[in-house]
Amino acid sequence: MQVFHHIQTLRDALAKERRAGKRIGFVPTMGNLHEAHLALVERAQQSCEVTVASIFVNPLQFGLNEDWDKYPRTLAEDTRKLEGIGCDYLFCPDETEIYPNGMAEQTRVVVPTMTDVLCGASRPGHFEGVTTVVTKLFNIVQPDEAVFGVKDFQQLAVIRRMVEDLCIPVQIIAGDIVREADGLALSSRNGYIGDDERPSVSQLYQSLLWISQQIEQGRRDFIALEDEAREQIRQAGFKPDYITISNSRTLEPAAHDDREITVLGAMYTRAARLIDNVSLVLDRPQG
Ligand code: PAF
Repeated sequence: MQVFHHIQTLRDALAKERRAGKRIGFVPTMGNLHEAHLALVERAQQSCEVTVASIFVNPLQFGLNEDWDKYPRTLAEDTRKLEGIGCDYLFCPDETEIYPNGMAEQTRVVVPTMTDVLCGASRPGHFEGVTTVVTKLFNIVQPDEAVFGVKDFQQLAVIRRMVEDLCIPVQIIAGDIVREADGLALSSRNGYIGDDERPSVSQLYQSLLWISQQIEQGRRDFIALEDEAREQIRQAGFKPDYITISNSRTLEPAAHDDREITVLGAMYTRAARLIDNVSLVLDRPQG
């Protein structure tokens, strides 16, 4: 695997691949790679001849009181893991390479409305940081395909909208959520979960699954379902942030006759904020 820290040298290498007619797949990450990240790279490898991963802990997408400082940085181990699965290129720039004019002066990319809800409501500015850095990374790598995990469901929806609105010539692919045996979705932030919290922390997923099963069985009292799930999470000892039954495409609160529904949730442990989601497609509109 070739490792690049600078935009120009990566561009030169990828230009050669492009000239040779190779299809380029891209997986942007913030590092601390686990099985779910590697599955995204493997997904890119299925349809692309060349795979590029990036590792950049993007300060622009962290709020002032968030975990940018303590976000795990494990570059040596991440490099070994990517090499182990045959990733071709790793781009790991530093902050001045990505933000040479400083973050305050950086031109921003904003996807309106759908970034104001759910995680966007709890983390003001977060999605602006994500869409800005992902646009820059797309311009640097110029991939044919980019793979994003479904665990960050809102991020995936926002990036799809941004690519559509800005006519960015990249195909966005969704990579499945990878879960522990008890249902906990793999996340770099799982390292913040206390040992005493770990046995009950899959309550977030269990509650989202419970809602989706209730909907499949015909319940349409969405507000009551969301309230009950929040209470389940409180009973398990955690603080719910949001539990929302949404239209999968718009992320607006689901209507009773919507067929594509995603149940999204976020909750706080002592030191982590965890997110998860469960999607369902109903056979036919329900009355
Ligand atoms: O999902 C992530 O790890 C980040 O939000 C991303 C897409 C790499 C942008 O920094």
